[in-house]
Amino acid sequence: MKVTRTLGQFIIEKQADFPYAKGELSRLLRDIGIAAKIVNREISKAGLVDILGEAGTTNVQGECQKKLDIYANEQFISALQSGGECCIVVSEENDEYIYIDSEISKDAKYIVAIDPLDGSSNIDVNVGVGTIFSIYRRKSVEGKATLEDVLQRGTEQVAAGYVIYGSSTMLVYTTGKGVNGFTLDPSIGEFCLSHPEMRVPEDGMIYSINEGYYAHFPDGVKKYIKYCQVEDDATNRPYTSRYTGSMVADLHRNMIKGGIFIYPITASAPKGKLRLVYECNPMAYIIEQAGGKASNGYQRILELEVTDLHQRSAIFIGSENMVKKAEEMMTCFSPQVMKKNFEGVAVIQ
Ligand code: AHG
Ligand code: MN
Ligand code: MN
Repeated sequence: MKVTRTLGQFIIEKQADFPYAKGELSRLLRDIGIAAKIVNREISKAGLVDILGEAGTTNVQGECQKKLDIYANEQFISALQSGGECCIVVSEENDEYIYIDSEISKDAKYIVAIDPLDGSSNIDVNVGVGTIFSIYRRKSVEGKATLEDVLQRGTEQVAAGYVIYGSSTMLVYTTGKGVNGFTLDPSIGEFCLSHPEMRVPEDGMIYSINEGYYAHFPDGVKKYIKYCQVEDDATNRPYTSRYTGSMVADLHRNMIKGGIFIYPITASAPKGKLRLVYECNPMAYIIEQAGGKASNGYQRILELEVTDLHQRSAIFIGSENMVKKAEEMMTCFSPQVMKKNFEGVAVIQ
């Protein structure tokens, strides 16, 4: 077996990349890694203990919470609370942001946004799920951190990552200097560097979208799907379609093999389904750091204005050339653009 570095060793090594850093960010990443291991432990024995199924509650989005959604949320929040480096946590599972008010966190500078369990509808059927996290530095310098500190654009992230609980468990993260992936070695209970300097292939042959909603997609998306399905030797089309229903799993595959993941606006989700703060922005940051591209169909995800903790966005993310092509289709065929060009054409908001 080849000798490699653990996540802990790697984080300490990389601390030198941040001249101003005093180790707080490193400790924060370490805390997230520890919570991920605890969540992984529960997920891996999910069929054996009473942790599958619905919790009987709903979150702020009106979605049914699974027992594991709640368990994962508690583990990440508790790790961040006891770590002392985080002043605010934003979570998919909590309506309001959580202010960490403790002696140990009184000088904490970081804000963490999390989707504790992504793809939780897959948990009962043993399909891969994930965790997504995003880290910001608070803007204000004294007093309690506020909502203003939280509502920062994706470009302001200082780190972001995801954990994929799949056939093996991996933690992938960036601090803005490339992307590195670590596989959990269960025999020693450590994440070990297995995927250094990850790069998304510029082109890909996989498209991931819930085609069941085809009738409700904007025309630009319909045209792009048709483009993917047409035969063309020069561009290796038709492409292949893969969609698990866990964004982390679909994006992780596309990171490694190349591809595009799309969750557009639809008739039933007129602003898109996925959440900007703890799903789209962290994934966009990671993908860009790996050489890919992330857009809402027209604009770079990371530059979108953030006005709400649970704001939604459409997302087109993955291999650069595939996302560019999809954007081209959106610009040419989307109702928004048609409205600009032709007065009176209906607009999907
Ligand atoms: P979550 O489990 O955190 O609510 O996220 C589920 C998300 C995302 O992971 C996935 O790609 C998408 O919802 C699936 O939605 P559809 O079932 O509408 O395709
Ligand atoms: Mn999610
Ligand atoms: Mn979730």
